[in-house]
Amino acid sequence: MPDDPQERVTGNASPPPDHVAIEMRNVHKAFGTKEVLKGISLSVDRGMSGVVLGGSGTGKSVLTKHVVGLLKPDRGEVWVLGDRIDLMTGDALDRKRIRLGYLFQGGALFDSMTVYENMRFFLDRHTKLSKGEKDDLVEESLEDVNLPQTKHQYPAELSGGQRKRIGLARTLILRPDIILYDEPTTGLDPVSVRVVSELIVKLRDERGITSIAITHDLLAAEIITDRAFFIYDGRIIASGSLDEVRTTAHPVLEEFFEGTEAYGRA
Ligand SMILES: Nc1ncnc2c1ncn2[C@@H]1O[C@H](COP(=O)(O)OP(=O)(O)O)[C@@H](O)[C@H]1O
Ligand SMILES: [Mg+2]
Repeated sequence: MPDDPQERVTGNASPPPDHVAIEMRNVHKAFGTKEVLKGISLSVDRGMSGVVLGGSGTGKSVLTKHVVGLLKPDRGEVWVLGDRIDLMTGDALDRKRIRLGYLFQGGALFDSMTVYENMRFFLDRHTKLSKGEKDDLVEESLEDVNLPQTKHQYPAELSGGQRKRIGLARTLILRPDIILYDEPTTGLDPVSVRVVSELIVKLRDERGITSIAITHDLLAAEIITDRAFFIYDGRIIASGSLDEVRTTAHPVLEEFFEGTEAYGRA
């Protein structure tokens, strides 16, 4: 749904073309004296899956938190669905955020609540729907991830892969246009990695959901990636198709991808 162009938040910079859902321009971020992002630029088209690859502690989570407006850059621009989310505050930011799903690293379900209660809690916080409407949404979202039978189970009774899918169902419940997936398959066995990755692809294909997924799982990347970005030392050092990134001549990339030829090409 296009927003009213009168209300665009642009900070007098020129917006990216309409087919671009997410664009970061020269984003810098430091914590104290520690520079984490040193000029990140990337863009993801509407309906596409961007994948951010890179080693541990390189700023992948920090990068995605800028896209959902949880962190503000020290310098640079963060465009999301036509607006500078880095300049938004208050109600405008809340309205934008409701269109963005963020699947946190670890999934973050409440252990003391059933699957149903976890999802209801989320809806109670973010919507004013009736109980019947909320129950329908919970039901639909659990169907979306093929886990309707888990409704009355506790997270501890589910497998790691099922917990990730419930986290995803909870993100889907507000029908976001964009989803940020922070390590959606970390710690899963290869079968579950495939199930979760294929679910992400299904949401792209059937709902047109734009996404950025962070991963260092190459099987997941093979399945999900439309466009890959490799982050190292605060910068994107390679981008393109997964194969283009994989074959970029750079010692860091060579080390990262070492031995991955064993994976079947998608
Ligand atoms: N809120 C914060 N305050 C201070 N340092 C942070 C904060 N968030 C992240 N960092 C630091 O930024 C660096 C990158 O973190 P992160 O983006 O989580 O890495 P990863 O690529 O593993 O997701 C790390 O050194 C981390 O300690
Ligand atoms: Mg992280």
